[in-house]
Amino acid sequence: MAARRQRKDTPRRSRPLPPAQPLQVRCLPQLNCTLRGCGRETALGESEPKILFREASFLAPHLDRARENFRYYIVNSRKDWTAEEFAQSGTDTFFHYVANDMENICQGRNPKEMKALDFGCGAGRVTRALAGIFGEVHGVDVSGEMVRLAKAELAGLSNVFFYESNGSDLNVLGDTLFDFAFSFSVFHHVPGKALIENCIAEVGKHLRPASLFKFEVQGDLRLKPPPGDTWLGPPLSEADIIEMARRCGFESRYRIGAGKESYWQWLFKI
Ligand SMILES: C[S@@+](CC[C@H](N)C(=O)[O-])C[C@H]1O[C@@H](n2cnc3c(N)ncnc32)[C@H](O)[C@@H]1O
Repeated sequence: MAARRQRKDTPRRSRPLPPAQPLQVRCLPQLNCTLRGCGRETALGESEPKILFREASFLAPHLDRARENFRYYIVNSRKDWTAEEFAQSGTDTFFHYVANDMENICQGRNPKEMKALDFGCGAGRVTRALAGIFGEVHGVDVSGEMVRLAKAELAGLSNVFFYESNGSDLNVLGDTLFDFAFSFSVFHHVPGKALIENCIAEVGKHLRPASLFKFEVQGDLRLKPPPGDTWLGPPLSEADIIEMARRCGFESRYRIGAGKESYWQWLFKI
């Protein structure tokens, strides 16, 4: 892995991590949410609406997926997304996993003064909504085709920046430090625990102390993806994630959905 670079942007002094927040999701009725099971208040993770199902046979390389039918690859609950419905699904994801969790994400900071990272941003589906509340949003993706689509899609937004990464490090982000990192449906496509850990460590290098990296992994230990699989995702146990977080300089504060395909993680940078 490339040596960590000296940053011009000095991290703030580490402040004590905030107390645990109640994790409640409220689906706002006025959102006209497209997620299944929506429209009611739920404990996050328990009866969380799902928008993804995964097929073990869908194993084409990322680039081909993006060219083939990028909307289906990103949210594969249907093949015939219209541009509007697809954009709405990004807004819904944002409300479910970000807007409902602003206490953990902002910790008293003004989101307009925060820089957010969308790791594995795809075509910018969620990035657009993030840009509506955070001062700056930076999306990074290993697929050049996805980055091209995202740039075209969000061309009018002046507070959004996209980068194509190399899959090994995030040096493409330069010296930028973030106040929040989010990743939706990405680690299911990273073939192996060591590679996932490397991604977490790389994101950690670009997060300010005490900031949150919120993401989901594949938590169903019964699923046995073949070596190199980039669709199901390697299953991670609670012990795996706690140890990974520690090795990468994070505290694994909350975990919801252990044993499920969508296993959400709240990692706070130490
Ligand atoms: C299912 S899509 C989700 C896109 C976006 N997060 C969303 O919810 O709309 C998964 C994305 O993760 C990207 N990806 C996979 N491995 C990655 C890695 N190691 N680094 C960055 N992006 C990655 C893929 O190229 C793809 O765009």
